[in-house]
Amino acid sequence: MTTADTITMRRPDDWHLHLRDGAMLKTVIDDTARHFGRAIVMPNLVPPVVTMAQAIAYRRRIEAALPDGSGFTPLMTLYLTENTDPSDVAEAHKSGTATAVKLYPAGATTNSDSGVRDFEAVRGVLEVMEKIGMPLLIHGEVTDPDIDIFDREAVFIHRHLTRLLREHPGLRIVLEHTTTEDAVAFVESAGGRVGATITPHHLVINRNALFAGGIRPHHFCLPIAKREKHRLALRKAATSGNPAFFLGTDSAPHTIHTKEAECGCAGIYNAPTAMATYTQVFEDEGALDRLEAFTSINGPKFYGLPANESEITLVRDTPAEEADRTLPDSAGVRVFQPSNLNWRVADS
Ligand code: NCD
Ligand code: ZN
Repeated sequence: MTTADTITMRRPDDWHLHLRDGAMLKTVIDDTARHFGRAIVMPNLVPPVVTMAQAIAYRRRIEAALPDGSGFTPLMTLYLTENTDPSDVAEAHKSGTATAVKLYPAGATTNSDSGVRDFEAVRGVLEVMEKIGMPLLIHGEVTDPDIDIFDREAVFIHRHLTRLLREHPGLRIVLEHTTTEDAVAFVESAGGRVGATITPHHLVINRNALFAGGIRPHHFCLPIAKREKHRLALRKAATSGNPAFFLGTDSAPHTIHTKEAECGCAGIYNAPTAMATYTQVFEDEGALDRLEAFTSINGPKFYGLPANESEITLVRDTPAEEADRTLPDSAGVRVFQPSNLNWRVADS
């Protein structure tokens, strides 16, 4: 139900999330569990979540960190390496332990060193996934240092993705955290076999935000924000009603001191403000009637899961600025805080 000042809709899910581990996990999980029903949990821990046994253990740690009575469900992913055992992947899928497999090109982003260098080496795993209908989630950037950082997504699409789809005609793919008009065009032309997540931050900042009056480490994430024309293409795709596009925050907490550093970490922590940001974008684009499909329907449909039965309400209000989150050792985590938000999630 939508009135001028409230929106009540099916509870959203987050189809791309970093929950981390240990003290960070305990500090951040409530921000996601408060708003989202389920989340696809990224496996880029140190060491990465490669096997079914590791995914079971990680899921237990997540469940133990959840507040009492939380209805939140983590959907686990396996980190694809060149040594991944196809039968372990099949078993993890069959038993319901893992929902998807994540492909990081080696060196593309935070904790991706064990990722894939040679696509030939993972052919056997991909063939099994094709057969059992398990989605492959891709960090779509080349790592070739000769390629300009702003071109790495577009080059990945042209160099690898077209071929991957041709060689694995049954494989379902999610192109994660898309940031370019090239990615939007590719997904639109793939006929439903390829889904795409879009983050809140890539809908509201472009690459100028990284250098507004000085260097802005809290706007640094990967894939890096691109030119304005790409941001506009993402807003159009997200609000278009095309079911291939769905919510994935890529909320990726790092401590303030590891971001404000000589070599600062990539990742934006947006879990607390994500739903308000998406809602504002859809309102500004005159597309509030399509918000629920993007946040709560298209994702489950792509993954073959039912949409959530429970609901969430957003109210028109100027939300208070979110304070930094604080870890037990008193390190802080900065929350992504867009200006001009006119919505907040009502307390449930
Ligand atoms: C993510 C992280 O910190 O784990 N960082 C980021 O900038 N998005 C990794 C990723 O999704 O690329
Ligand atoms: Zn991510």
